[in-house]
Amino acid sequence: MSKLVEIRHLKDHVGDDVTIAGWVETTRAHGKVAFAEVRDGTGVVQGVFFKKEMEEEQWSVHETLTQECTVALTGTVREEPRSPGGFELGVREARRLSESVDYPIQPKEHGVDFLLDHRHLWLRSSQQRAGLKVRAEIEQAIHDFYYNRGFTRIDTPILTGSIGEHAGTLFSTEYFDDTAYLAQTGQLYVEAACPAFRRVYCFGPTFRAEKSKTRRHLTEFWMVEPEVAFADSNDNMRLQEEFVAYLVERALERCSEELKVLERDTSKLEYIKTPFPRISYSDAVDKLKAAGSEIEWGDDLGAPDEAKLTEGNDLPLFVYNYPKQAKAFYMKENPDDPRTVLCDDLLAPEGYGEIIGGSQREDDLDRLRARIAEQGLPEEAYSWYLDLRRYGTFPHSGFGLGVERTVAWITGRHHIREMIPFPRLMNRLTP
Ligand code: 4AD
Ligand code: MG
Repeated sequence: MSKLVEIRHLKDHVGDDVTIAGWVETTRAHGKVAFAEVRDGTGVVQGVFFKKEMEEEQWSVHETLTQECTVALTGTVREEPRSPGGFELGVREARRLSESVDYPIQPKEHGVDFLLDHRHLWLRSSQQRAGLKVRAEIEQAIHDFYYNRGFTRIDTPILTGSIGEHAGTLFSTEYFDDTAYLAQTGQLYVEAACPAFRRVYCFGPTFRAEKSKTRRHLTEFWMVEPEVAFADSNDNMRLQEEFVAYLVERALERCSEELKVLERDTSKLEYIKTPFPRISYSDAVDKLKAAGSEIEWGDDLGAPDEAKLTEGNDLPLFVYNYPKQAKAFYMKENPDDPRTVLCDDLLAPEGYGEIIGGSQREDDLDRLRARIAEQGLPEEAYSWYLDLRRYGTFPHSGFGLGVERTVAWITGRHHIREMIPFPRLMNRLTP
């Protein structure tokens, strides 16, 4: 057998005799010539079978090839601009390595429930591969961004004893004789790491028992949460916009093929440059009311409100300083308007809505205790968190960016469930 080569490296082997191994996507035969498109996970190449140039036994292998069976093809690499990937393989020897009978996903429209039931196979489809490739690039870009800015990565626990965000959306599990919650956020723990390392971030799966079946909700999603000592709410928004602009730039720079497969209008992404516009919550409510919305000051913004606010604006939009009652207990009271807290949501354009939630943290012990009591949370569970205000309290801010929502926006996909390899939804725990 000739040298086994990955398809992505074929450009370095033009004229050579090589072997590629992978999965058959499609086959076609026209009399004395047959084609098999093969994917090996690094690319796709067309194998060309010419009857008169092959031994009979080798030629007949093409008749046994079915969608998603595995093959090894040996032959000469040729440049072929019309072929996907730009190269083809003139096949001399073909071996089918394993069979695939009645592959469930056909090149036709399937319903999304069917596809989600077959997620373990659907991953192989070109648009799914492209979306997940962009996700992987974004995840790497996240680490690069914070590493290059001197942040220390802190891995926070998934099993926890205190409620991070909302009591209403907790998953709990037996923990010996006790109850553990699955983390809704790593924030409280990165706050603890801040005095040790100044600039920190965590990045991991988070869990919310949200009883919503919207295109923007998963029960398990990945979140990156930076936390910075001596940063106020303005510094926080500045970091957010630089971060988001960097992620978009990385996708444009390194995922152009994938964005093409996904038919993304990349001019929309090229437009994303800092600074991003900002509007206060109170001004946003006035604007929504003027546009006929029923929203009242104090209500959280719903998805339709968010869409309305970003309409006609191609940049992400910060909405800052929400009313206290709409937000979590740890956000710092706004000294200029104590009905509100120093926080922001970043809304992505094109109707994608909130991709970031962030805030300056309440660093005053008594105010924080009052907020915990106000929200009916058990103070004992937060005694360690309150220690951070007892021993060297300090101004600090941070935020959380949801990976799936961000990737859905960057790739222009409608539903975030396609942006994670195995989505967990209210009604879906398998595969
Ligand atoms: O606004 P959230 O709830 O903020 C926090 O969890 C803070 N502790 C973050 C921090 O300050 N360190 O969530 C942050 C982001 C949202 O903007 C959204 O992108 C994503 O997490 N998110 C979800 N993504 C998918 N499915 C869900 N159910 C999500 N809930 C939040
Ligand atoms: Mg939020």
